[in-house]
Amino acid sequence: MTASAPDRYRPETRLVHAGTLRSQFGETSEALFLTQGYVYDNAAQAERRFKNEEPGFQYSRFANPTVAMFEQRMAAFEGAEAARATATGMAAVTLSLTGQLKAGDHVVAPKALFGSCRYIIEDYLPRYGVASTLIDGTDLKQWRNAVRPNTKTFFIETPTNPTLEIIDIAAVAEIAHQAGATLIVDNVFATPIFQSPLALGADCVVYSATKHIDGQGRCLGGIILGSQEFIDKHIHVLLRQTGPSLSPFNAWVMLKGLETLPVRVRQQTDSAATLAVAIAEHPKIARLIYPGRPDHPQAKVAQKQMRGGSTLVAFDIKGGKKAAFRFQDALKLIRISNNLGDAKSLITHPATTTHQRLTQAQRDELGITDGLVRVSVGLEHPDDIVEDVLAALEAV
Ligand SMILES: Cc1ncc(COP(=O)(O)O)c(C=O)c1O
Repeated sequence: MTASAPDRYRPETRLVHAGTLRSQFGETSEALFLTQGYVYDNAAQAERRFKNEEPGFQYSRFANPTVAMFEQRMAAFEGAEAARATATGMAAVTLSLTGQLKAGDHVVAPKALFGSCRYIIEDYLPRYGVASTLIDGTDLKQWRNAVRPNTKTFFIETPTNPTLEIIDIAAVAEIAHQAGATLIVDNVFATPIFQSPLALGADCVVYSATKHIDGQGRCLGGIILGSQEFIDKHIHVLLRQTGPSLSPFNAWVMLKGLETLPVRVRQQTDSAATLAVAIAEHPKIARLIYPGRPDHPQAKVAQKQMRGGSTLVAFDIKGGKKAAFRFQDALKLIRISNNLGDAKSLITHPATTTHQRLTQAQRDELGITDGLVRVSVGLEHPDDIVEDVLAALEAV
């Protein structure tokens, strides 16, 4: 097998070619190696593979050629030395934390997190003796004040789900490093197209590849990226021994998704910006949040660390839950879902779905009002998306 390593090429080119392992058949499109295991020429070779004395594959829970292509292509694009793919985004989040932590350690994270990420930090880790402090991630003073002698890692997502708050990655990385801690960034909402956390000082980046990387609503997947040392020390052995590995089939879908990622994300972002402009002044909307706009609460930070806006738009419909439900039910093109990053436009009511686990007081604190909806803008014609939203607003 041969690997192409076109490091000198621009990012979009790397998303098409980097990491390709071409077999003896010379296939154009990456091969799908749907195999659990590998055979050895002789017993001595098996021994050498297991002792790491010879490169090669042993078992697909450890590594697989199609999964390796996905990992190498993502690492090349992200500017990471190493990457390990996982079965889901939540497996990536969980491993990135548990790989570094042990009983007696402490984690700091914002309160504004995707529901499952908040569960891991607030409920799951404490069961194993890892304490956590949740703060307002946009307030740098709170990060400094939350540090304890046993703080090992900071975890953020930016823009956040669902209120699209922006956290200053470089500033938070500096505070983490001064405290002798690491910074993990969940980069799902920004995508690798618009934000490079490692270049801003983060130690680890995680993705739910389920979202924009697949981009067409098919497979679940995740990936963890960082320095070779970070991956070797914290991730590699845990993934291999505990087993939340990405299936080769899903890796193949993700790998092919990477080829079109920039084209899709840029188109979806342009359409999201168009939607934001079309509804910003609408009398039935109390508040519109879009990271590409100058009226975003953290517009300056967004401008500093992001290369583009977002494929997501959040807005508050006047009239609370009843109005938000009426609005969603009146949509004809945009479908109701909790997912995002799909070619199909999707709408979510976070207060009753992704963030229903939080108390009313916790949601109020985060601005997840009963009227808030989050639209993940897809690849339909932008005029059709805008017309659908405007017509549904009429029905409210
Ligand atoms: C910000 C964020 N992180 C992580 C995840 C988890 O990803 P997955 O559903 O692939 O486990 C999601 C999924 O919705 C998400 O929105």
